[in-house]
Amino acid sequence: MTDTRPGDAWWRTAVVYQIYVRSFSDSDGDGLGDLPGITARLRHIADLGADAVWITPFYPSPMHDGGYDVADHRDVDPRFGTLDDADALIERAHALGLRVITDIVPNHTSDQHGWFQEALEAPSGSPARARYVFRDGRADGTEPPTDWQSVFGGPAWRRVPDGQWYLHLFGPHQPDLDWSHPEVREDFEATLRFWLDRGVDGFRFDVAHGMAKDFSTPLRDLGPGQVHHRIVGDGWEGDHPFWDRDDVHALLRGFRRVTDAYSPPRTTVAESWAALDRRALYTRPDELHQAFNFDFLTTPWRADALRATIDRSLALAASTAAAPTWVLSNHDVVRHASRLALPACVDPDDWLLTDGRIPAIDSDAAARRARAAALLLLALPGAAYLYQGEELGLPEVPDLPTDVVQDPVHHRSAGRRKGRDGCRVPLPWTRGGPSLGFGPGPAWLPQPSSYSPLSVEAQSGDPRSTLSLYRKALALRRTLVHVDAPLQWHSGRDAALLDFSIGPLRCVVNLSNEPTALPADHLILLTSGLRAAPQETLMRDEAAWLSKSE
Ligand code: GLC
Repeated sequence: MTDTRPGDAWWRTAVVYQIYVRSFSDSDGDGLGDLPGITARLRHIADLGADAVWITPFYPSPMHDGGYDVADHRDVDPRFGTLDDADALIERAHALGLRVITDIVPNHTSDQHGWFQEALEAPSGSPARARYVFRDGRADGTEPPTDWQSVFGGPAWRRVPDGQWYLHLFGPHQPDLDWSHPEVREDFEATLRFWLDRGVDGFRFDVAHGMAKDFSTPLRDLGPGQVHHRIVGDGWEGDHPFWDRDDVHALLRGFRRVTDAYSPPRTTVAESWAALDRRALYTRPDELHQAFNFDFLTTPWRADALRATIDRSLALAASTAAAPTWVLSNHDVVRHASRLALPACVDPDDWLLTDGRIPAIDSDAAARRARAAALLLLALPGAAYLYQGEELGLPEVPDLPTDVVQDPVHHRSAGRRKGRDGCRVPLPWTRGGPSLGFGPGPAWLPQPSSYSPLSVEAQSGDPRSTLSLYRKALALRRTLVHVDAPLQWHSGRDAALLDFSIGPLRCVVNLSNEPTALPADHLILLTSGLRAAPQETLMRDEAAWLSKSE
């Protein structure tokens, strides 16, 4: 079954709120967020007006990569709760009208997974090793089998005591599975059914572009500079030895068959860092319903660049009749309330180097742009993925002391990079308290004092807060944004404006240095500016939603 009736498929227009489990809400005071903590706070997400939650991995894990190192996909880590807690969460979400998307990690397991432990104990060439990627080394066995580098830095191979090497495209605690092995496929499909039977409404497939690998012998070296996670425009066209290979699509079709066997059919979204012209392949009608569109993460805050990204994204999604998706932030990237104001020459990753130099950013511009970006994101046709805390306008925390940083990116870069923890600092719920309402004790990462006035409590009663802006926008979006209405640009005005209509909604974003008058024949529904209303003039970095006056 494919989604041939677009209007009936909830995910096509959904606002999906990403919960990063460790940092959302801690019910038991161990400093880590957990499932009962989420359940207790789901009302916040329902009141915000989201349609669904995407919950990052909560399965048993030694937590070398925040839970993306899964030791057992069909259980809950005791630090996060129990299977009963997962059931209670799903039930409560459904009662509040929220769908639940869980995050599933097919490419690799934890090195503590039963299969990998078995493989370590088994001899070279044994069936237990065949579920992973064990190979002999080069030279006299002391060199890794290839020059492949891991995404987190350093070689993608680790040697085990008997001399063989295993592949880990991420950290050494995350051995890659061999997806040509039938048992790997069968077991994974059993995992999908396990969660579908418990009532989840869909899956986010982690690293969906990485499962199929070319293991023909001899294994191919890549050469210098060919190891990147982001392979946009890399020219490999489906023949990179491990990223975005053509063979991955047969696996995705298999997943789709599993979810389509459920009624109503569940949804699926790919995290696939594929080259642009190949992204649409993931959303062909018999593959996944959606693929994250990460293009805003690298688009400069300029009208021409944003417009080009929007047009290209719409065209790509249309090529397979998939709904477009939009992302400004997630748990892997610098929060956009900081990123959008980084000086143009500063790469967000370099901003987080640990050499003590953190170039200041203009926090007023950052806040203005983040609010305008929210109205832009939520006006676009398709599905919007929000990252927890963006509704509060939370900035990145770039100056975490290095001794608290846990991200493997930090450790694998020998401390040179801070990594991704600055966007994972636990949420502030209240103005005060040991962890600003996150939990009864201190949080696993310290929150800066600037998070207190941004807390849910501080923003809730304030009609001009970012939280209120998101709430109003989401409420209006329900009636005004039509995913299948064509987006129409209004040109002829200033080239530094974004100005488009979609159905009855008109969205204008001013990216010029000058104020601009809003079109007179429209009602102003909402503006991102912090000045007192009415605001017929849009200042720099402000956005407005309008509707045609009768
Ligand atoms: C994805 C996740 C990221 C994780 C990686 C390895 O990119 O979003 O957080 O580290 O996969 O599983």
